[in-house]
Amino acid sequence: MPSDKRTAVVLGASGYTGAETLRWLLGHPNVRVVGATANKHAGKRLDALWPQFVGATDLVLGTEAVPADVTFLCLPHGEASKIAPSLSGTLIDLSGDHRLPEPVHSAAYGFARATDPWVYGLPELGHARMLGATRVANPGCFATALALAMLPMRGALPAVVNAVGLTGSTGSGATPTPTTHHPARAENLRPYKVLDHQHVPEVVAACTLPGGPTFALDFVPMSAPLRRGILVTVPLPGATVEAYRAFYAGNPLVRVLSTPPDLHGVLGSPRADIAVVEKDGRAVVFCAIDNLCRGAGSQAVANLNLVMGWPVDLGLRSLPPVP
Ligand SMILES: NC(=O)c1ccc[n+]([C@@H]2O[C@H](COP(=O)([O-])OP(=O)(O)OC[C@H]3O[C@@H](n4cnc5c(N)ncnc54)[C@H](OP(=O)(O)O)[C@@H]3O)[C@@H](O)[C@H]2O)c1
Repeated sequence: MPSDKRTAVVLGASGYTGAETLRWLLGHPNVRVVGATANKHAGKRLDALWPQFVGATDLVLGTEAVPADVTFLCLPHGEASKIAPSLSGTLIDLSGDHRLPEPVHSAAYGFARATDPWVYGLPELGHARMLGATRVANPGCFATALALAMLPMRGALPAVVNAVGLTGSTGSGATPTPTTHHPARAENLRPYKVLDHQHVPEVVAACTLPGGPTFALDFVPMSAPLRRGILVTVPLPGATVEAYRAFYAGNPLVRVLSTPPDLHGVLGSPRADIAVVEKDGRAVVFCAIDNLCRGAGSQAVANLNLVMGWPVDLGLRSLPPVP
């Protein structure tokens, strides 16, 4: 029977962001998933790799992308840009391959990118710019949390912004490394890429008004003994609860809370939780997200919604698990 649903394929569905993107797509009312790929896991059933999907799909992980209305690229940096030129339809790239212009991209990622235009898919930068887009660069996970913490202050940010962010181990992908596997992460906190995280240029670009003053972002990322979740802390003089509530009013993917957020409020959820704590003219902004949801898969689905002209939170309305 013919379907008016849009077809979707996920490249890299054996990885964390790919599986999370599929989780949201399989529950989306306007989408039919028609394919999923993997590299070393190709040939396996998706539900053999991820028991979460037993009963939800009988997809087998392939090696090649099949044609679809939309293709999600959940691949390592450098791999997405290799395959993108051969794909048709709408592409939503979760890697860092298409987020930054040159020469900033080369400085951040160590290889040059093609100059074809991709829309930076942070929904809060405006919905109209996404409608009908065929090439969407999904923001980085830290970049999403930092930009959401700072966007309401765009144009009024200090010349130097300081920020600290903690992240869970899934942020580094499914393949363990000496600094990301369990014995190294458990019961440990470890700063890394201090003042040198590749997401910083994304945040500066997103939070600078065209023709307006720019700023430096001194960011200290820290690996935390968690699987999922990002919490960033940004002291921002001049930030007020009222301004943040007004900026995010009506946004179903951001909640402005009265007390500092914690990760339990966002894990498994497509929403970001933000709070501004003010005292004696000073202010600290917090933003909590699930790196695999608002920082990756559910944000990619929100971007699909905007490309298609659907409500930004279509298929993304579930609440986080309790407790
Ligand atoms: N993890 C996060 O929180 C997060 C958030 C935002 C954005 N991102 C970005 O999203 C992308 C995917 O991240 P991830 O954490 O999902 O990584 P991951 O868990 O390592 O998954 C990578 C996926 O790509 C496949 N793959 C690896 N090498 C390939 C190749 N040469 N050709 C084709 N497929 C290949 C893997 O297949 P096999 O497993 O079968 O080898 C796997 O399905 C990265 O660019 C990452 O920076 C990650």
